[in-house]
Amino acid sequence: MISPQSKFDQFIDGQAALFSDDEVMGLHLFRTKAQCMNCHSSGYFSNNQFENDGTSLLGSKQEDLGKYLVTKDPNDAGKFRVPTLREVTRTGPWMHNGSLTSLQEVLNFYSKGNSEISQKKSTVHEGITLTSQKSEMLKFLDLNEKEITQLEAFLGTLSTKTQRLTPPELPK
Ligand code: HEC
Repeated sequence: MISPQSKFDQFIDGQAALFSDDEVMGLHLFRTKAQCMNCHSSGYFSNNQFENDGTSLLGSKQEDLGKYLVTKDPNDAGKFRVPTLREVTRTGPWMHNGSLTSLQEVLNFYSKGNSEISQKKSTVHEGITLTSQKSEMLKFLDLNEKEITQLEAFLGTLSTKTQRLTPPELPK
């Protein structure tokens, strides 16, 4: 599946007038105060690494140890691949478990520094005690309502119009 030229791509290619003030401010926040670029970097909007985003729900029924389940390396407990943000307005519900149902919820989650206060500090999985350390790159951002609106506006520029695809004819 190819994500074609988005409003963001046209903006970067020099059509600066396409962006509203909120979208420009959202891009600015994405790179500065909100620190999203630490992980959602490059033209793909992902560093293609596995990071702990505070979404493992340790000790709950929905617990998901992420990359650990494959590598069995305790440092990988709670790590998930950083997803691209291209077409992000259409990939909801968000996160690996679909636990966040609006982009506003996602932004509020990040604003609070992805705290896992409601979760247990450790869990015992197949006899091994594991902890899930969220990334040091996640900070308490304390974004105000306006900043959340601006970030959401910017995220909207990464999506393109829906297109009708003709499925290829399969061999008989
Ligand atoms: C420490 C690295 C890191 C930082 C910083 C970060 N993210 Fe993420 N982001 C992730 C990871 C990892 C996931 C996947 C988590 C999961 O699947 O449970 C994710 C998921 C998302 C998703 C859900 C995508 C989807 O399709 O489900 C959105 C939207 C998102 N991030 C936006 C942002 C925004 C906006 C910021 C800045 C406020 C930000 N991220 C900062 C690592 C990061």
